[in-house]
Amino acid sequence: MFDLSESDLRLRVLGCGDGPAAFNATLSRRGGKVVSLDPIYVFDTAQIRRRIAETYETVLAQLRENKNDYVWESIRSVQELGLIRMAAMEEFLVDYETGKEEGRYISGELPMLPFADGSFDLALSSHFLFLYSNQLTEAFHLQALKEMLRAAHEVRVFPLLALDGKRSVHLDFVTKQLESLGYHIGIKRVTYEFQRGGNEMLTIRSS
Ligand SMILES: C[S@@+](CC[C@H](N)C(=O)[O-])C[C@H]1O[C@@H](n2cnc3c(N)ncnc32)[C@H](O)[C@@H]1O
Repeated sequence: MFDLSESDLRLRVLGCGDGPAAFNATLSRRGGKVVSLDPIYVFDTAQIRRRIAETYETVLAQLRENKNDYVWESIRSVQELGLIRMAAMEEFLVDYETGKEEGRYISGELPMLPFADGSFDLALSSHFLFLYSNQLTEAFHLQALKEMLRAAHEVRVFPLLALDGKRSVHLDFVTKQLESLGYHIGIKRVTYEFQRGGNEMLTIRSS
């Protein structure tokens, strides 16, 4: 999703809206420095586990219904996707309490971040900004990205599509605004594509 190189993985990374994903657990295990922020981290392991179990069938049913909106190549079926997701969430759940104690899982919500300026080298957002363009305004997107750029030197966002599979209606506005503030903007094709057409990330750098 983010075209992360070995040297990227040595940076101080902030994941915004990481949810119950395995990225933090995996990177921490291999010695990386990563902090994840999400409103669901206000809950404990049992509460998150229960919520995952409650929503599992609904999520898979929605995927089955909209099967043509996704690319079934590296993942071949809805059932396989379900198994991969559950394994990733289990990896998260096993790591969660320790990670919270170590300050790697922080409860919080964009567009505000509870971190000092320049605390991170790289801030990431996957499947949150742009994806919910019909629910979150352009002002929210701009404020959230500025806040991520305050906390980190570089920001990457994936994908650039909204839930309807169309390119986010906020993309032009936020990139123009950030360019006018002097940030360097790039749109880069990446190898990961699951949501059909969702194979680009936005990069924003302060220098
Ligand atoms: C679709 S999930 C994506 C999870 C993960 N990043 C991934 O790609 O699999 C969206 C996540 O955004 C989180 N979220 C919702 N509102 C948020 C906010 N204001 N700031 C940060 N994260 C938020 C949700 O709790 C959820 O975990």
